[in-house]
Amino acid sequence: ENTLRALAEAAGIEIGVAVNADLLENNVKYRNIVNTQFSSVTAENVMKWEALNPQPGVYDWAPAEALIANAEANGQVVRGHTLVWHNQLPTWLTTGDYSAEELRAILENHVKTVAAHFAGDIQQWDVVNEIFNDDGTFRETIWYLAYEELGLPGEQYVADVFRWANEADPEALLFYNDYNLEFTGPKSNAAYAFVQELIAAGVPIDGVGFQGHLDTQYGYPDLQNNLQRFADLGLEVALTEVDIRTFVTQKPNGEYTNTPADPAEGAEQVDWWARTLEACLAVEACNSYTVWGVSDANSWIPGWFTGQGAGLLYDMHDNPKPQYEALREVL
Ligand code: XIL
Repeated sequence: ENTLRALAEAAGIEIGVAVNADLLENNVKYRNIVNTQFSSVTAENVMKWEALNPQPGVYDWAPAEALIANAEANGQVVRGHTLVWHNQLPTWLTTGDYSAEELRAILENHVKTVAAHFAGDIQQWDVVNEIFNDDGTFRETIWYLAYEELGLPGEQYVADVFRWANEADPEALLFYNDYNLEFTGPKSNAAYAFVQELIAAGVPIDGVGFQGHLDTQYGYPDLQNNLQRFADLGLEVALTEVDIRTFVTQKPNGEYTNTPADPAEGAEQVDWWARTLEACLAVEACNSYTVWGVSDANSWIPGWFTGQGAGLLYDMHDNPKPQYEALREVL
């Protein structure tokens, strides 16, 4: 029976998965699914700033390197996630008493250190993650505020980090990645205008990542057209973190299950998986489609969206769900 990976290869795209480094090392069934079903991997956490650089000047490369070694042994490419983000920063950084000048130097050092360390191993980097608010204004991150304090436009840190990443790793494709970017609206319109400015300024940006954390509670308008307009700027596009959640039933003791509360929405979830992949396949520049975790047993969704779940391709026992079959059919 054809795996997702074999079908995706024939279709000319990478099919990726976010990987939990501990499960990859310790859970044979999990590892087997990752290695046989997917052609691309993203570190779910171990390449984030707090994981790589827990103390000032101290870098702990081992967990990320193990993940990369497994990928290379299995002929998979790696999406680097993520060089610059406002979340999962180390405490020394967020609570330290640094001047704006020092923060800019810390940022430059981190981006160059990490990109150089992994150079040659990363097919595409999420250089910046989640830089816009939903209303299309820039998120006032620690970096944005430091730049403003230096008398610069806050968003100028974005151009700088792309340049630094490119210097340190000229081979990797460099992406801006965000959520709520999938459909046209204030946020994706702002991002669309901004990446045009970056391109016009000669900033080395290669692509835009659309996370794809979707919810059947909201509508599903125009993914393909939206991907296409970014592609028409000469950029690669990718779906980078797909999961499709819905409300789930509760047990008598109040615990949430992973069974959709509304069967109609359960069916809609399966349909949305097919439609997101179809949209990527329909856009020539859409180079990869990555799902954010293997199974409902290790998804971030129940921990972050109370009462919701059932967002992934495999169930609590790592058995494939109808969503998995839906993707195979589309491929
Ligand atoms: C999530 C991980 O899945 C969790 O394990 C972690 O506790 C928090 O971060 N957008 C992103 C990802 O870009 O890095 C996030 O990953 C999910 C939302």
